[in-house]
Amino acid sequence: MFKDINIHDVAREARVSASTVSNVLNGRLDRMRPETSERVLRAIEQLGYTTNQLARQFRTGRVLTIGLIVPSVANPFWGYVARSVEEAASAQGYQVLLCNAERDPNCERRYAETLLASGVRGVIFGSSPLSFDHLAALAQRGLQILAFDRRIQHADEVVVDSVGIDNVLGAKLATTHLIGLGHRRIGLLSGPIRTVSRQDRLKGYQKALQEADIEIDQQLIWEGKPISGFGDAESAELGRLGAHELLSLPNRPTALFAINDMYALGAYAGAQELGFRIPEDLSIVGFDDLSPFAAIATPPLTTVRQPIQQMMRIAVEYLIGRLEKTRSSPPEQLIAAPELIVRKSTQKV
Ligand code: RIB
Repeated sequence: MFKDINIHDVAREARVSASTVSNVLNGRLDRMRPETSERVLRAIEQLGYTTNQLARQFRTGRVLTIGLIVPSVANPFWGYVARSVEEAASAQGYQVLLCNAERDPNCERRYAETLLASGVRGVIFGSSPLSFDHLAALAQRGLQILAFDRRIQHADEVVVDSVGIDNVLGAKLATTHLIGLGHRRIGLLSGPIRTVSRQDRLKGYQKALQEADIEIDQQLIWEGKPISGFGDAESAELGRLGAHELLSLPNRPTALFAINDMYALGAYAGAQELGFRIPEDLSIVGFDDLSPFAAIATPPLTTVRQPIQQMMRIAVEYLIGRLEKTRSSPPEQLIAAPELIVRKSTQKV
């Protein structure tokens, strides 16, 4: 039988004021000591306190919401991911709460705390920072974590399942395509290379050059310094700036591999501003096959496709399977195969 516990019972149990409990429930944790919020969450759990909506969900035994924490939907890639997650989740009767955390571990933790405090037990993290340590305490309290766009590493035991693309292979496909067209001076355009996916793309680019006996020139690896965070909201602008710098080198590249399509489209602008024609003077390859931008760009962008809709369908299926306990297999890493889509932005040197 559901017991009618109120906010004052929780406050008494946690030895805090009712307004502190309300701050925790509403995710206002900025000025709160972690021990305080943890005491409140423990009291909530011990007493079985929930908001009315949650009470209803608890009575039915199912909380029909999952969380999605992405870097920023200001980058349309993440908007497309969010739309795909929503579609897959709603087909299973779930809704999605979306948060933009700018790949900031503290921000991710705060959002995850808020979601857990609202009864959400499963969250998809898009392209998280290098480690998941900041989420360990939440995982211990029962948060199911699915990592998207992350190769799981040794210390990531807090993650249950993961879904991603083979970034090394994808970058290798892109670079090898350019080498096959006769390019030897190939630049890499990126923001900070501090996520697993970016590190893997750098590896794939370097591998392709090494296998073709082309010396790796560090001058051609452009790692932009964004104004804030990892530059997800500024990708196109960073691509534009990077293209300016690389194309102004005395021995300029004849081709660019961009870490994602937004960087590639920014590079279009940068190159054109300097009077370079694509692909006659400069070939460009992106990564993502961002719909619809890659296909409708002028010229249409050669890129590496990530099958986002299928990947997100699997991610949602894995996560809901864990929540509903229909999935109890050991943690799984799904690594999708990238596909090179050759359009009109690349040609023989
Ligand atoms: O910003 C989007 C890009 O960053 C995508 O390529 C995604 O895979 C991530 O790493």
